Amino acid sequence: MKQGSGARIFRSTPRNLAMLARKLQNGALVGVPTETVYGLAANALDSVACRRIFRVKGRPSTDPLIVHIHNHDQLTSIATTNPVAELLANQYWPGPLTLILPKKPCIPDIVTADLDSVAVRMPSHPIMRRLLRECGLPLAAPSANIFGYVSPTTADHVKTGLGRKIGYILDGGPAQIGLESTIVDARNPSKIRVLRPGAVTPEQLSRTIGALVIEYRPKRAQVSDNQVSPGLLKQHYSPKAQVLLHKDLNHGHVGKLSPKEACLYFSKPKFIRNKQSYWLCQNNNQAEAARNLFGQLRSLDKQGFKVIHAELAPAGPMAAAINDRLRRAAAH
Ligand code: TXA
Ligand code: MG
Repeated sequence: MKQGSGARIFRSTPRNLAMLARKLQNGALVGVPTETVYGLAANALDSVACRRIFRVKGRPSTDPLIVHIHNHDQLTSIATTNPVAELLANQYWPGPLTLILPKKPCIPDIVTADLDSVAVRMPSHPIMRRLLRECGLPLAAPSANIFGYVSPTTADHVKTGLGRKIGYILDGGPAQIGLESTIVDARNPSKIRVLRPGAVTPEQLSRTIGALVIEYRPKRAQVSDNQVSPGLLKQHYSPKAQVLLHKDLNHGHVGKLSPKEACLYFSKPKFIRNKQSYWLCQNNNQAEAARNLFGQLRSLDKQGFKVIHAELAPAGPMAAAINDRLRRAAAH
């Protein structure tokens, strides 16, 4: 156990897991590891605890939370499924896929921002699964960052952002995937669509259900779009530094850099042109780049850079998810 101001970081010993499960049952908030990013968890059936999540993050109450479950019984207790949703759950759970489904009354309105649907995910992180089993409750958990800032991929990131506002963080090591889950609107089985790209791609989803699944891309933020997934449109994952996007930093014109400007290459360049060069992966490895993205953005902020010239990911399995997060960061 590491101790400091505010939150304590707990290792996943059986004793600590039992203690944290009890805290959650009694209404406390706990920073939790998942395979995508760290979450800020509370009992999803406890409206008072869930309201605190919004306060602690500074998150508007119009932005609904994802509910994390341990097993299929919990799914049917909180949401109404359909055969296509079952197919997707069967194929991708536990894992980085969130399904939007009609909600059941046991889920408080604060969790879903008054929508009649609920976002549900069964995470695969073994420590998170043990915690979910131990507390026997569905856990509402958004990413454990101050609203609008870069999502956390380590327990220390959670402590840096929320450490003064929460008491407990469960350490599960660095997040394996590093980007938030793919969110899929699965309410209408004949019109499955991706609302947020993640590690599970539309191509994979299409193959699973035997029908075309596309990413829903609103052209401009409209009221009707906002109702599809409140929070997703405006939400940024922004470092403090200004992010400028480049298709290809090796051949692009970034000009002469001031000491406050960094270059964030997708893959380690053959010729490193200056000391301010950073990269997301070594050998065009997309999974590695996804895993490192948020940590790199945080680290460049910490080093005091004011501008980050970031290179978009080339075509590949994680490109849509990585570029979605980079574009949001640049939209700051
Ligand atoms: O990987 C993840 O999904 C992480 C980990 C902790 O599970 N969680 C996460 O939560 O990214 P958050 O709150 O940062 O993003 C969840 C987004 C919300 O911004 C909202 O737009 C969308 O999910 N969402 C939640 N409930 C919804 C609903 N009923 N309908 C449409 N969109 C919903
Ligand atoms: Mg978030």
